[in-house]
Amino acid sequence: MKITVAKSEAEFFRAVASRIVAQMMQKRDAVVGLATGRTTTPIHAAVCDIHRQSPFDVSRVTVFAMDEITNVSREFAGSCYAMILNQIVKPLGIPPANFIMPPTRSDDFAREARLFEQRIAERGGVDLQILGIGENGHLGFNQPGTSFDSICWHSRMDPQLEARIRRESQTPDNVILGGLTLGIKNIMQSRKIVLAANGPHKARIVAVALNGPVTTEVPASILQRHPDCEVILDPAAAQNLF
Ligand code: GLP
Repeated sequence: MKITVAKSEAEFFRAVASRIVAQMMQKRDAVVGLATGRTTTPIHAAVCDIHRQSPFDVSRVTVFAMDEITNVSREFAGSCYAMILNQIVKPLGIPPANFIMPPTRSDDFAREARLFEQRIAERGGVDLQILGIGENGHLGFNQPGTSFDSICWHSRMDPQLEARIRRESQTPDNVILGGLTLGIKNIMQSRKIVLAANGPHKARIVAVALNGPVTTEVPASILQRHPDCEVILDPAAAQNLF
């Protein structure tokens, strides 16, 4: 794994953004997997800044979010669909047909999972996958204990996140919130991966995932085995590493 420690948090956001932009410029029909959350929101803003200052062609680029919250409305501002749409797809002008997402509601998520994988495969697979990391080492909605052989599946989110999403989306208690997520095996099939982490709350898990044993108890530890994975950190997230 290549580890890049940015000089500041602002530099961290720009560094990850530059990897996304470089991929889109190098291959005009690139397939780029994105992630949502606090980490990536400012990264996406930095991508839009670069695009505003020096526009590049995105008419053939495909993007998707690697996971989606299920059983909420797509219009809920916290859905991965809404976040990627508003943070990247609309501001860059990526054609709607090139924004691939599973639905948030379905009576058959197993079928939706296969369809999502199929639509990505039809475009040639993933050139670049951007990943965040959970404080327990999760990738997407693959919580600790998930098999490294997992393919796209309907998982549960961690209880804290579930409580927050339930509040924000005003979802009643009798509706189970889930997460449709690419599996670990899908993630590892990406040609290139960038794992992005910032802030002191990520320092512990970053050190465990990068320096500890490869174990399903820390899903992100599998990235040690990926042939082309760059970990980009801000100084706070890197503080336990060296
Ligand atoms: C969430 C999402 C992941 C994300 C991660 C980190 O649960 N499912 O896709 O990468 O947790 O989120 P954040 O960047 O807000 O810390």
